[in-house]
Formats: sequence, structure tokens, C-alpha cells
Amino acid sequence: MRDWSIIYDTWSQEEQPLREALCTLGNGYFATRGAFEETNAEDGAYYPGTYLAGGYNRLFSEIAGKTIENEDLVNWPNWLPVTFREPGGEWFHTSKVEVLSFRQELNMHEGVLLREMHFRSSNGHESKLRCRRFVSMANPHLAAIQWELTPLNWSGTITILSALDGRVINSGVARYRSLASQHLEPQAQGTSAADTMYLVVQTTQSKVRMAQVARTRIISRVSEDNITTQTITEQGYVAQHLQVQATQQQAIRLEKTVLLYTSRDWGISEPLLDAETNMVRQSSFSDLLEEHTRAWKRLWSRCDLQIASSNKAQTILRLHIFHLLQTVSAHTYDLDVGVPARGWHGEAYRGHIFWDELFIFPFLNFRLPEITRELLLYRYRRLPEARYAAKEAGYKGAMFPWQSGSNGREESQLIHLNPQSGRWLPDNTYLQRHISAAISYNVWQYFQATDDKKFLLFYGAELMLDIAQFWSTIATYNQTIERYEIRHVVGPDEYHTSYPGSEEIGLNNNAYTNVMAAWCIQSALDLFDIIDEARIQELLHKLHISDTDLERWKAVSKRLYVPFIADSPVIAQFDGYDALKEFDWQTYRKKYGEAMRLDRILESEGENVNKYKASKQADVLMLFYLFSAKGLIQIFERLGYRFKPEHIPENIAYYEQRTSHGSTLSKIVHAWVLARSDRKKAWANFEVALVSDFEDIQGGTTAEGVHLGAMAGTVDLVQRGFTGLEIRDDILWLNPVLPEKMTCLNMQLRYRGHWITLNITGERMLLRFDKGLTKEVKIGYRNQTYICQTGDTKEFDIRRNLTD
Ligand code: BGC
Repeated sequence: MRDWSIIYDTWSQEEQPLREALCTLGNGYFATRGAFEETNAEDGAYYPGTYLAGGYNRLFSEIAGKTIENEDLVNWPNWLPVTFREPGGEWFHTSKVEVLSFRQELNMHEGVLLREMHFRSSNGHESKLRCRRFVSMANPHLAAIQWELTPLNWSGTITILSALDGRVINSGVARYRSLASQHLEPQAQGTSAADTMYLVVQTTQSKVRMAQVARTRIISRVSEDNITTQTITEQGYVAQHLQVQATQQQAIRLEKTVLLYTSRDWGISEPLLDAETNMVRQSSFSDLLEEHTRAWKRLWSRCDLQIASSNKAQTILRLHIFHLLQTVSAHTYDLDVGVPARGWHGEAYRGHIFWDELFIFPFLNFRLPEITRELLLYRYRRLPEARYAAKEAGYKGAMFPWQSGSNGREESQLIHLNPQSGRWLPDNTYLQRHISAAISYNVWQYFQATDDKKFLLFYGAELMLDIAQFWSTIATYNQTIERYEIRHVVGPDEYHTSYPGSEEIGLNNNAYTNVMAAWCIQSALDLFDIIDEARIQELLHKLHISDTDLERWKAVSKRLYVPFIADSPVIAQFDGYDALKEFDWQTYRKKYGEAMRLDRILESEGENVNKYKASKQADVLMLFYLFSAKGLIQIFERLGYRFKPEHIPENIAYYEQRTSHGSTLSKIVHAWVLARSDRKKAWANFEVALVSDFEDIQGGTTAEGVHLGAMAGTVDLVQRGFTGLEIRDDILWLNPVLPEKMTCLNMQLRYRGHWITLNITGERMLLRFDKGLTKEVKIGYRNQTYICQTGDTKEFDIRRNLTD
């Protein structure tokens, strides 16, 4: 590992699935896993998946006596295949040769994946292979491979194969394998020119058509007269076999340039036509690579974040930024897609969009806010579906789905397989109504960071008002406690979906949900002071929000119920949490390690996690993650509860002991909430979060797609958590307390039109205001505010922060 590269210098078939996910290359429009060129999914250890941002398809499956429909992120044709064979020999494949040396490097600065190998075939022939690949950040439709073979101790005629393979299915996640998986129908295949082939496929239900065109050229040392080309086609597959003379110690270099267009693209006539037309215009690998690396250079100059800490921490932070930018980039604009929890890197969670946006948007808000805006529009465009869902459930307003895909319908699966027991079980996690609160919160945070009033007026306010309307109608008045409550929901801790022994699903008064609901309604009411009267009236009229509704909003936002553990200031995760049994953490941690999927483990033992005080992930603690102590106290005060800042550590300690960290998001929240009170522990949690994908701490889940929420969350921990960055009352407050193991931080922030360069050490914080769009912004440090504008520099002595 070097600061800008992930390097694997030994070959390990076992680690291959993980490496493929981590070496995925993408550009916000499509992504391809880091599988070797010569592999296909039938080989077992390899899975060369290619995914299109928002490329979904629905299929019905017969499973456990039920017919169920799932919407999947489709695995599109594999454009990678390149391999060779000697006469009478088998096609080269890494698993079939003796690997004498191996090196794979993911260069994140340039967005290039390199593989260098020295190997011996079964006939004793030794060769060197060097492959470089990129998925262009300059042209979203383009990818290219440079493949170079050097025979070391042999000469002879060889056949090189280059192919586009559309015979693929979705089989990347073992526990989905009994579900229907044939998403593609072949449409056409053939050649466009002597060195160019094409393949067209279409999804079975969503009818998205994709054309891939590949140009394969042998560049070096071989004159064109000595190459014979044969095209092989079959339904959904096209290959070119190039016969060339290989000469000892002379490298044969091949360039494969690929263009990929779909029927969802803007600015095209027809996918195949445009792919073919544009292929003729493409220059050499090195020219295309140059444009691509220039695009990455621009991205890094905005998005890099430098820390003085271990080399590993720095590199992994960059890996996280890299995958974030490969999932959503400027090429995501106008694609009408959300940000998937697992990136476009694999098939886990079917490419669905969850609340993980909460963890992902802050990084984008302060660097590429245009992208957050685009991702919020994905939600806005699905308001009609959310309104329909609310109505069907008996509420008003907009109720967003826990899992969202193409059109905003609820995409959570009805049943899921517990791989530990082999049983298909009902999945009730869709009751996580808090997703709608996350959307409001995200709109608000985006607005805070950008002051984008146009967005708020046209889109954001409508989302926030309709979500507030939903919360005000899902809440019901309980005469006995004289408060409003929200019943039959599931909180972020997905282990608890019903009360022990109860047939009913859902829990009552999940504290996180209720507090967020109160915040949503209050924030929607606050909009009345921000947005002009005419626009507010228009929106109220459009959304059928009456004065009676608004009266109810006020009442609910002041009287929502929050449960507490009896005789303590600890917020109860939900009503009745206190009565659950304590869990035997020691025994289970000894057996399964720290991060456990207790729901699966206990079910396989004939037990039920619902019975225990055992959380999958941060739930109550989410409140301390999303709100500063000041902000939270205000919400509680308004609700009529006397919650004090000094109660926070007690709450953290209580849930720390009762959390299994079965989600990678959990450690982010725990690191965050401890960042001030216990720097050592915060860093320990941060370190775990940091390696959750790199070291695949959940035992095989990263191979199915990276955990983008956790990746972005680690970066945000550095960006906002350790710097105490918060926007309150139109002021950007900073209050840095760096962890002991991170002695310096350099980064740039985009804030309300300004670029601010930040340099923080244990002693001082330096802010430089580079060229900005707006006149001035307000900065706050220790109860003092400062008005800053382009050219200003501010320096603060921050040593006292440590003693606070
Ligand atoms: C977590 C959710 C998360 C989802 C997608 C689940 O395991 O419990 O909070 O949204 O993964 O990342």
C-alpha cells in the first residue's frame, strides 16, 4: 500500500472476490468489477460484473411456496474478455497456470487498474502479462484495456480472443441464487468494421437496451498483414480471434476500446448507432488515458483530504473517496438515479437506495453539492409514489420506501434467506419509516451547506412539507400518556421488528423515529420564515395542507412521546425495550467476534433476537450523530423533556454495551459520538470502520459490493466529526479536536459558494478563503463569529479545545 495505490503483490484465489470489489472501476455512469480479463462467472472465484447506474430489471421467482417479485441491479454484458492460447492448448487463465510472480495495483490518483504477472504454462512456456485498464472519467461511455503479452522462452503462433459476452446472469450473491436471474435478452451481435464488434441486449421487463461496441487492435511489433481475424458469434456473444506470430522476448500489445450506450441516454439517436459512430472517433489507449487521468486530477484537486496519520489510514480514506466518486460523479447528472448502499460494485441489496444517503451526502455537500442536488431530485421525482404509499397505508403526505429502485415503489424483499439456517423468513425491515426523515434531513443539510434557495423553493420545501404531513398523520394521540405516538415501526436497529411472542409486526415509539418526526415537522414549520409567503401558499394549496393540518403539526411536534429507561436519563430504543432480556455478549463475542449478525445466528439456533437488549447498529445514538448537543437539547425542550448534555455519555455507554455492530454503519456512529468525550475509543472505532471493506470484516460481504455508507462515513468523520464542523444559524462553526493519532488535517471545503482551505493541527487552525462566488460567509469559533470573504485568512489557537 502506498498513499495513492492499493497493491497486491501475491496472487490469492481466495481473496479474489474481495479484490474484485475493491478494484472496481467506474465513473458514475457504469462500473465494472476488477475481475481479470480472461475470467467469467462460471470459474467460481471470479465475477466480472458490469453495472449501469440505475440499471434495474424486475423478475418473478417461485420461492418457499410463494411468488415474489424482486427488482435487481442488472449484471450487463461483460466487456472485459481478452485471453490467448497456443495451438492445441487451452485458453490462458490465471487459475490454470503456475504463477511465478504477481502484482496488481489500483492507482487511485489516475483511476487505473494494473496487473503484472510472470507465469508458466503446463507446457513449460513462460510468459509475462501486463494489463492496464480504466473506465473513463472523461467520457462516461468509454472504457479501455491495454493487454501486453511477452513470451519469455518460446515463440509460435497464438490466437488472441477479445469478446463481448452477454450470456451473463445475476449470480454474484450466493444467497440470491435460487431467485430468477436471467435479466437480459440478446438482440443483435456482429461486426461493425474489421477490428470492431458489437453486441446489443435488452432487459426483459424494464426494456432498457444496451449496445456495446469494442475495437480490438494489436499495436506493436506485428504488421497487420500477419494478423488473421475470425469473428465468432452466438446469441448474446461476439468474439474476435486474432491469429498472430509470437516471438520470444517481443511484447505483443493489444488495445481494446469499448463504448457502451443505452436507450436511457440523453443526446443520442440510438444506442448502437451512437456507439458505432463514436468508436470511429476514438484515438489510442494512451490519448484516451490522458483525458481520463486529467479528469481524475480535477476531481482529486477538489476532493482529496490529507491527514498526518498512518500511511494505511491515508490510503484507505482515499480508497473511500475514490469509490464514492466512481459511484456518483458529474456523469450521474440527469441519469435520475440515487446513491446505492453498496455502490455499483456488486449485486448485494440489488443496487437499492436506502437511508445510507445520510452518511454519504455530507461529503458531497462540501465538495460537489451539485451531485447531492441531483441525488435529492431522484427522491423528488418519486414523490407521487411516496404519496400513493402513504395513502394506501391510511396516511397523508409522502411516505418513502425503505428500499428504493427504479420508480420509488417499496423494493424491500418480502422474504429473505438466512444463510446460516437455510430458512426463508419474512423480512419486516421495510417498516423503517425513518427513511422519510432522513430525506428531509438531507434536504435541510444540503440547503445549509449551499444556501441554494432555488432548490429549496422548487423542490426541497415540497419534500419537507409532504414528509411533515406524513409524520403528523402517522402519529396518533394516546389519551393515557397525553402524548402522540408512532406505532408499528422499525428503527435503524433492524434486529427488532416485533415484540417477543407477538404476532403483530413493528414496535411502538422508536425513540429515533419519534425525535426525527418531531424535527421534520418543526423544520417544515420553520420553512414559513424562510420561503416567501406566495410560494408557501402555493405549496400548501398543491399539497392540500389545510390550517387544521398545520394546527395538528404544531401539536404533534410539541407532544411526541419519547420513551426512557425507567428511573434513568437513558433514552429507551422503543417502548418496552426495558423489559427485554439482557444478552450474553461474552459468550457470543468469544465465538463470533465483535461484528456479528445476531439475527441470523440466533434464528439458526431456534432463538429470536427480538427477545434481547441487543442492537444490530446505532439506533438511539443516531440522535447524537445527527444533532449537536445544543440542537438535540432544543428538540427535547420543545417536546417538554428535560434532557441534558451530561446525559449523553450515559446513553452512549448504555448502548455501547448492547450493540453487535452487525452493520458497517454502526462503528461510524459510535466513533462520532465518542469523538469529544473519549478520543482513544473514538479512534479505535474509526479504525474498525476504516478497514470494514478493505479487510472485509463482515466475512465476505464486501465481495458483493462495497459499503458506501461506511466508506463515506469515515471520510465525513474526518471532515466534520473531528473538526466539529456544524452549520447553525447561518454560521459555519468549527471546533476541532483531532485524535491523538491524527496530528494534522488538510482539506478544502465548498461552503455557500466559497472554497475554504483548512489546515488543522493539534495547536492551530488555519482557514484560507479562496475565490468565492458569494460576497461573504460567517465563521464561528468559540462563541465568536467572523465575517470572511475572498482572500481572507484566519488563524485560531485551538489548544484549549482539548481541555474542554
Ligand atoms: C443496515 C441498514 C443499511 C443497509 C444498507 C443494513 O445492513 O442495517 O441500516 O441501510 O444495510 O447499507
